Amino acid sequence: MTQQRHYLMCRPEYFAVEYAINPWMDPGAGADRDLAVSQWESLKTAYEQLGHKVSLIDPIEGLPDMVFAANGALVVGGRVYGAKFAHKERAAEGPAYLAWFEANGYQKRMAPTFTNEGEGDFLTLDDFILAGTGFRTDPTAHAEAQEFLGRPVITLKLTDPRFYHLDTALFPLDGRNIAYYPGAFSQGSQEVLRHLFPDAVIATVQDAEVLGLNAVSDGTNVVVSAQAADLSLELKRRGYEVVPVDLSELLKAGGGPKCCTLEIRE
Ligand code: ARG
Repeated sequence: MTQQRHYLMCRPEYFAVEYAINPWMDPGAGADRDLAVSQWESLKTAYEQLGHKVSLIDPIEGLPDMVFAANGALVVGGRVYGAKFAHKERAAEGPAYLAWFEANGYQKRMAPTFTNEGEGDFLTLDDFILAGTGFRTDPTAHAEAQEFLGRPVITLKLTDPRFYHLDTALFPLDGRNIAYYPGAFSQGSQEVLRHLFPDAVIATVQDAEVLGLNAVSDGTNVVVSAQAADLSLELKRRGYEVVPVDLSELLKAGGGPKCCTLEIRE
């Protein structure tokens, strides 16, 4: 039996590529907002059809990246560790997401002291949390999150600017195993990952370049970019149900399915 998940999402009503804070973003290239909304709707529908619960936060005009809910916080055991964005363009999103949790009855909240971009750089497994640094999240926030959440946090160093958040290079398949693209990590972090996850799914550079690692698994079903061909094959071979989604417009901002999804762990 697959356990029901609870996801927080933000409809991309004000989505646009207006600035460039990662190598995927080209403000001159133009993104189709209506198409982005319909692609996002199909992602939401996919979760609902899998039996998961989706809650919505109201989008705010002037925050074109707010659709990327994963960056809004990290929620583990009902405790909400807020985000503090690295770039001023997204700074207002941190308090907006914390306000949603306050309005929805989450008592245990912490406004962070250190820069961190929520689940973009923190991925939760059963016994520990994997945390990325190198581009956005300050490693001091890893220690802050560990102290607040009471879970061990393991620091991993990202080295390729295309994979600026941990969730662009790695995703948990379940509470014990992961899929990842080794080329996104420093030598030492690659060794750590090999040591912790000898049975991991190793993704190809082609998978990584379509943000195939920006996937969401409930342990049975994996919602993944339709373009991630090698990864999808390997997941099927291992017995997972692959649920392909096309988020081509959001990819122009450097985001995929996981970026649009903040998991609320009660
Ligand atoms: N344009 C956004 C940024 O660069 C994309 C965020 C993607 N989110 C994620 N969880 N990787 O901040």
